[in-house]
Amino acid sequence: MRAAVLSAFDAPPVYRDHPEPVASGDDEMVVRVLAAGLHHLTRSKANGAHYSSGSALPLVPGVDAVVRDEAGQLRYAALDDTRLGTFAERTVIDVRRSVLLPDGADPVRIAAAMNPAMSSWVALRRRIAFHPGRRVLVIGATGNAGRMAVQIARLLGAAQVIAAGRDESRLAALPALGADLTCTLDDIACAADVDVVLDYVWGDFSAAAMLPMLTARADRTAPLTWVQIGSMAGPTAPVPSAALRSARLQIVGSGIGSVPARDFLAELPSLAETIESGAIDVRPRPIPLAEVAEAWTATTTDRIVLLP
Ligand SMILES: NC(=O)c1ccc[n+]([C@@H]2O[C@H](COP(=O)([O-])OP(=O)(O)OC[C@H]3O[C@@H](n4cnc5c(N)ncnc54)[C@H](OP(=O)(O)O)[C@@H]3O)[C@@H](O)[C@H]2O)c1
Repeated sequence: MRAAVLSAFDAPPVYRDHPEPVASGDDEMVVRVLAAGLHHLTRSKANGAHYSSGSALPLVPGVDAVVRDEAGQLRYAALDDTRLGTFAERTVIDVRRSVLLPDGADPVRIAAAMNPAMSSWVALRRRIAFHPGRRVLVIGATGNAGRMAVQIARLLGAAQVIAAGRDESRLAALPALGADLTCTLDDIACAADVDVVLDYVWGDFSAAAMLPMLTARADRTAPLTWVQIGSMAGPTAPVPSAALRSARLQIVGSGIGSVPARDFLAELPSLAETIESGAIDVRPRPIPLAEVAEAWTATTTDRIVLLP
């Protein structure tokens, strides 16, 4: 079969022949890949930067996909750490890490959205005690995951959703998706009274947002849960010590490990249904798998979806 094969951590994968996959064990199944998203997780696992990265090469990247199973059914599957990912004509899935999709489901839409949407869906439903009526700030709201976080916070009953980022022209699109307010670092104090922060940016950007927000809080003893989800501005953030003393701030992370795999998996069906219903705006950019090398380094604000 044909697959995208990565032979070095510092070079894009190459589209070439690869041995056919073989299933082993009762829960494994060889499936046909229909559409696989090129997510940040895919790239950072493949370049060795992610905490779940392995060190063995060559490997076929791809952490998830919409697939056609042996019985002809459509599934969304998330792969565990493996050297045979989803950027291939066929791969092996663990059926327990997959969910059946309705026959008419759009593979490209689901493949583009599940990973970025899962980040806020799981954070709000599994990582913290989130209740309808809470106020939410999304930092990095102009990205794929952030844009979906705005919509998901709204769907899950947030009373107010504030979208923050660095690009005012991109922020301007967010009220149409459910944001009540938008702000940059300059006016981040507008989010002073939120209950939850969903942070996709971290680094200096988020650290700089903390004191202006916290010191402007009407009630600094009101709990504020800052959920660290992504690290687009850097893997470390110089969190001011005063941030931790001046308000009732709690910083937690949400991702593989801080949320058990069984909780992620339990959320797959309801999230797939929500995406399929059209309730979340998804911006996929389908590209043939044969063009994986160009896609790997492409800069686009849409989510690239590779089609074997
Ligand atoms: N923990 C989880 O469960 C989970 C799941 C999915 C994704 N993630 C992580 O979430 C993050 C965002 O993913 P995504 O799919 O939304 O990515 P994306 O579509 O590429 O969007 C990136 C976002 O980060 C912003 N950004 C990038 N560099 C920045 C900087 N130096 N300063 C301020 N803002 C910056 C971008 O702003 P502009 O629009 O201005 O460029 C945009 O809002 C990634 O780190 C990803 O790995 C985590």
